Amino acid sequence: MLLKKPPMGWNTWNTFGKDINEKLIMETADAIVEKGYKDAGYEYVIIDDCWHLPERADGKQVPNPEKFPHGMKYLADYIHSKGLKFGMYSCSGVMTCENLPGSYGYEYIDAKQFAEWGVDYLKYDFCHFPKTADAKMAYSTMAMALRNCGRDIVFAACNWGECDSHLWMRSRGINTYRSTGDISDNKVSFCDIFESQLEKISLSGNGFFNDMDMLIVGMYGKGNVALGGCSDEEYLLHFALWSFMGSPLIIGGDIRNMGAVGKGILQNRNLIALNQDSDALPPFLLGHDGGGGKLITMARMLSGGRFAVAIFNLGDDGWKKGSVLFNDIGIPINSGIKVRLTDALNGNEMGIYYDCYQENIEPMKFRIAIGEIVK
Ligand code: GLA
Repeated sequence: MLLKKPPMGWNTWNTFGKDINEKLIMETADAIVEKGYKDAGYEYVIIDDCWHLPERADGKQVPNPEKFPHGMKYLADYIHSKGLKFGMYSCSGVMTCENLPGSYGYEYIDAKQFAEWGVDYLKYDFCHFPKTADAKMAYSTMAMALRNCGRDIVFAACNWGECDSHLWMRSRGINTYRSTGDISDNKVSFCDIFESQLEKISLSGNGFFNDMDMLIVGMYGKGNVALGGCSDEEYLLHFALWSFMGSPLIIGGDIRNMGAVGKGILQNRNLIALNQDSDALPPFLLGHDGGGGKLITMARMLSGGRFAVAIFNLGDDGWKKGSVLFNDIGIPINSGIKVRLTDALNGNEMGIYYDCYQENIEPMKFRIAIGEIVK
């Protein structure tokens, strides 16, 4: 299996948009290693849209020589020399979202080209898709092309959850599927994305991951998808939601200049361990309560017989009491079984519980606890 756990890395789009070049990519690769991100698990360095010229040459995509004077193989070699992996971007339509050549009708040519350059991950977008064409066919064609290009390349589909992608992409060998439209840097955006996936998340996991879009942690309203920015606590909630859901963790901020708080969130070892759990199972919804359904309780089975329980208060009308009945996760009260809970954020012991866990949670705050049966 190409991808046993959600991929972790960095992508140019959220902060830099069209304004990308070789220097930025190399400096970011350096920063990933030097600032501890690699040790925390981040490995993919991904160039998004706007790396290429408006015309193909001999049928092939051409990197923009002003932005990438030494070409893509040079960059791939540099990234690989750091022990990292190289990601690139194309589009299933005739053009990318920024009107540069897409791969529609060129799937096998482009897959071969990406393999020759040393690409390890391909994000594959959905703009300018012909109205009479079939998305299933187009994504299946690129999937087959990648599976036969002579190199292991993670296929990260990005068709925004359209065409019920979660139902058929796993069977075509696609590794991650972007399940929503684009994130922007504010709390409404990340909460909306999270809530839109609650019912769909059960198909994610183990080789095929629901990609809730690149992270906005540490952007503070600057960059290409900036709309307002978030507080530190909101960024922590956002990262906790993505970790708990098993989404790919692809940083969208500027790693070279990330502040201490953003770095601390992105490198939170406990949340990362939850995201990267070796059983790679999706969470499930327990309750959608509180005023307006903004109090959300969930659970997730973890390796070694453990589990996680979560209470998220995404409302803005005061504290809410969340309650997780252990019966709902397979521990009936008449079993007499007790449960030890540990805070997933900092590893602190929370105590021994029987029957249920309840807690009052402030607006835009959460509790995620790792549980194990007391033997
Ligand atoms: C779409 C995608 C984004 C980004 C841009 C690039 O909007 O959803 O993540 O790749 O295209 O143009």
